[in-house]
Amino acid sequence: KSIVVLISGSGSNLQAIIDACDSEQIDGTISAVFSNVPEAYGLVRAQQSGIITEVVEPKYFSSRTDYDLALADTIDRYKPDLIVLAGYMRILSPVFVNRYAGKLLNIHPSLLPKYPGLHTHSQALSNGDKQHGATIHFVTEELDGGPIILQAAVPVLPQDSEAGLIKRVQVEEHRIYPLVVSWFMDGRLAMRDGKAWMDNQ
Ligand code: GRF
Repeated sequence: KSIVVLISGSGSNLQAIIDACDSEQIDGTISAVFSNVPEAYGLVRAQQSGIITEVVEPKYFSSRTDYDLALADTIDRYKPDLIVLAGYMRILSPVFVNRYAGKLLNIHPSLLPKYPGLHTHSQALSNGDKQHGATIHFVTEELDGGPIILQAAVPVLPQDSEAGLIKRVQVEEHRIYPLVVSWFMDGRLAMRDGKAWMDNQ
């Protein structure tokens, strides 16, 4: 079974998913890792694990839709059962999102519906939140607004720096993302009628 992962950066969530495939927690293989950023360190991680990498750079396309169509055509060569956004920092257009409806996952570093978009950790800190965390959801046309699958919360401590809080949230990200991917690959998780459906057997 084929998984395609999209990244833009360091790829620590990608690494957690690579490790979970290697240990067979996830029943599937990462067939390719895509990045819109040529320098993304996650590409090095993928190559170190012998995974094919593809860089599709936005500057060669005249519109977001053109880019997303080219991206999707390249992704389809890997016949993915699941597409995982792991720190992919580009907004995907409706043509892309609808093409992969029900097989597109994203991780977002907040307890959605709180703080969609960027700079979630600094917002949690400046608002004096007691809790912060991460959410995994199916991707729909609404930015960071698709059906929620799993969330993990961490405490926000009075002396926290942004970097410290990011780290605490990422520990949880690296735990819950492989878990959700494993559920999906086992056929226990789906999007039905715009909701996350889970077989609890
Ligand atoms: C993660 O915090 C994720 O929640 C956000 O971007 C970050 C990606 O980190 N969307 P990494 O590239 O997986 O290390």
